[in-house]
Amino acid sequence: MANRERWSSRLVFILAAVGSAAGLGNLWRFPYLSYKYGGGAFLLPYFIALIFTGVPLLMLEFALGQKFQKGAVGSFEKINKKFSFVGWSALLTGFVVIAYYAVVMAWSLFYFFVSYGVKWAGDPENYFYHSVLGLSESINTIGGINIPLLLALVGVWLMIYFSIWKGTKSVGKVVMVTMPLPIILLVVLLGRAFTLPGALSGLKYFLVPNFRALLDTEVWLAAFSQIFFTLSIGFGVMIAYASYNEKHDIRKNAWHVALLNTFVSILSGFVVFGTLGYMALKQGVGVDAVIKSGPGLAFVVFPKAISLMPLPGLIGILFFLILISLAIDSAFSMVEGITTVILDKRPNYKREKVTAVVSAVGFLAGIIFVTGAGLYYLDVVDHFVTSYALVIVGLIECIAIGWFYGTKKLLKYIESTAKKTSWITKATWSFSIKYFTPAVLLWILGSQFMKEVRAPYEGYPLWALAVGWSIVVLIFILSFFLPKDGSE
Ligand code: PHE
Repeated sequence: MANRERWSSRLVFILAAVGSAAGLGNLWRFPYLSYKYGGGAFLLPYFIALIFTGVPLLMLEFALGQKFQKGAVGSFEKINKKFSFVGWSALLTGFVVIAYYAVVMAWSLFYFFVSYGVKWAGDPENYFYHSVLGLSESINTIGGINIPLLLALVGVWLMIYFSIWKGTKSVGKVVMVTMPLPIILLVVLLGRAFTLPGALSGLKYFLVPNFRALLDTEVWLAAFSQIFFTLSIGFGVMIAYASYNEKHDIRKNAWHVALLNTFVSILSGFVVFGTLGYMALKQGVGVDAVIKSGPGLAFVVFPKAISLMPLPGLIGILFFLILISLAIDSAFSMVEGITTVILDKRPNYKREKVTAVVSAVGFLAGIIFVTGAGLYYLDVVDHFVTSYALVIVGLIECIAIGWFYGTKKLLKYIESTAKKTSWITKATWSFSIKYFTPAVLLWILGSQFMKEVRAPYEGYPLWALAVGWSIVVLIFILSFFLPKDGSE
């Protein structure tokens, strides 16, 4: 154990963890959620979710990794031999997510290369869905494999591989660039947007609070789900990263990561709404008419807005560089979560080889998403995995610690890493892990499920929804069959 790999400094650990947290979720989801759910008022449920479930769970994952000096599976095994499945289900969930997350990066890489010619100008919507994706008419028609995107996907996986092939050493170097870079570029785009007319009126959609929105439970649901995904909780990533620390102040680490990640979200909100404000003004419409979330925002609305700006080629390159550099450290953190566990179990395996195999499998799993129906598959898989698998993983993590291991023991460890006792943590942490967070997660699961029963997700055919459900079920069945005991 003494010769476990280490991060070269606390700063590097924080950058890696924030790098994992800050990703597409911050740029293309958070701003939209704010707009949709009460503008500035959304910050209230957001911070409540952050403080009462996000930070406590982050502390839990950091504490597990650091105390037991193992990745997700080994840590849960130390609690109880029977709990390896908790760790495995987290990793399998992460594996599915990385398979399509890398594909979104492949689109970004593709756009990055065509930016200088502003190829999308004119009709960005048609360009994205038809020229780039070659989207088939429905999920029933799979179409062929899209070769340019497949090549971009190879490129993305090579970037992922070479970021982590030497473990903490190479990750440490990469995050020194990929963490500050998107922030600097976001600030550049912020400057660009706010020196153009209309930006301020766009900002109103993001910031003017509508407190009445908070009466709707859906707003709260959205806030809690967002916190989960955005902090990379429940994927075994934060456990793996913390296992390369010796004795860090866990409370401090969790707060720093949570707040820095929030900073990236809010900064992104300014950039998105500033830019859309300008675009809306140019087109003589309201921001309501142009706003979208997800791929539509990044690959249709933004390119459109950029094409209306001076120097669109340059701004395009900057924007897609932001997407890539923001997403890459999230992507490789999921792979690292998996390789950490394999190396815990088989310490004599070579890290480079294990990483290569995991990357190759991840690439192969992603091929379905670069077919003609790729975007539909991506949408369905993302929906089921993040609405169900991820939430269930969080729930069983809380139950394993709260009800089996005992929150007192872990809290004692957390406090032992800090100089001073925090009375607030002492008073609230156990309650959050044992009762509050599981209750919230059950509520999310229940209401998601009810929604599902009422109307099939996005009107997809039954077989497609069955595929989504099967992936969720398979994750949990498989996790019971994966290796239980380490060779340690
Ligand atoms: N937190 C990332 C985002 O907001 C997504 C992610 C989830 C990354 C899990 C790593 C692990 O985009």
